Amino acid sequence: MIEQLQNAVAEAETRLTAVTDLDQLKALDSEFLGKKSLVSSLKKQLGGLDPEERKVAGRAINDSRRRIEEAVAEARSRLDAEALAKRYEAERLDLTEQLHRIERGHYHLVTQARDRLEDVFVGMGFHIAEGPEVESAWYNFEALNIPEWHPARGSFDTIFVDLGEPEEVMLRSHTSPVQIRTMENQEPPIYIVAPGRTFRTDTADATHLPAFNQIEGLVIDRGITMGDLAGTIDSFVHAFFGGDVKSRLRPSYFPFTEPSAEFDISRPDGSWLELGGCGMVHPNVLRNCGIDPDEWQGFAFGFGIDRLAVMRYQLDDIRELVNNDVRFLRQF
Ligand code: PHE
Repeated sequence: MIEQLQNAVAEAETRLTAVTDLDQLKALDSEFLGKKSLVSSLKKQLGGLDPEERKVAGRAINDSRRRIEEAVAEARSRLDAEALAKRYEAERLDLTEQLHRIERGHYHLVTQARDRLEDVFVGMGFHIAEGPEVESAWYNFEALNIPEWHPARGSFDTIFVDLGEPEEVMLRSHTSPVQIRTMENQEPPIYIVAPGRTFRTDTADATHLPAFNQIEGLVIDRGITMGDLAGTIDSFVHAFFGGDVKSRLRPSYFPFTEPSAEFDISRPDGSWLELGGCGMVHPNVLRNCGIDPDEWQGFAFGFGIDRLAVMRYQLDDIRELVNNDVRFLRQF
């Protein structure tokens, strides 16, 4: 009997590992565990045995039943897992197919240049400041030591807004008004750069855009000299363009700085390229913001970000930046 049971268990186990669907499983379940199965019929015969034999045989039958039940359960969970895997496979969506087809964009090259500039100046200890794009005459001109009669006012080719008194409200023609707003709101020492959009009546050509971007720098502290200005510009030029690019200052004139300079950077062929204006903040400008020029000094600088991008990427025409031709933009 023991041998019979062992054979039955072995057969059940082999056949159960081979089942491929639930119907087969059900059939095997009743064949090996049902009323007509070996374990059931042997159990019925137990009554005819003497107590000692009955104990041994009973245990062998129960053991076999348990092993067959385990094999059935194992086969069932295998079938379940297979069915689930099949369902997952059928319901699978390949999302990467979608991803490959969608093109990833990137920042416009002017934004990239602006971000890098911010990084370089923040690395040098500057904070980022901002101001409005529509300004009053006070911020765009007067506080910057450019009174109404001043000839420099004309050179800014200002775009006025039809609001209030004539020529009172305008699109800012440079980022220098942010100097005034910062000094009004903040006690020195001040170390800020202010990137932003600026506007002039220029007609677009290869080197001009009527709407362009500048970045303004302003430092107000004790004992600041022209040497600090030159050193700051030099450090920035090295950090932004790389080690072998040099900078130089050339005397110039701005109403809001005294002395004033234009700053150039060296090109690989040895020639110089003008980048922007700078100088020591004019005492009148400090006074206009309630800062005592005997206690505090400072320097300011400003230059075009679009021009910088043109230089850095050696573009032929600044208008490429605003044509929105993706074939062009995609290259950067
Ligand atoms: N605001 C000047 C311009 O747009 C540049 C400048 C800024 C010059 C700061 C000196 C100091 O031309």
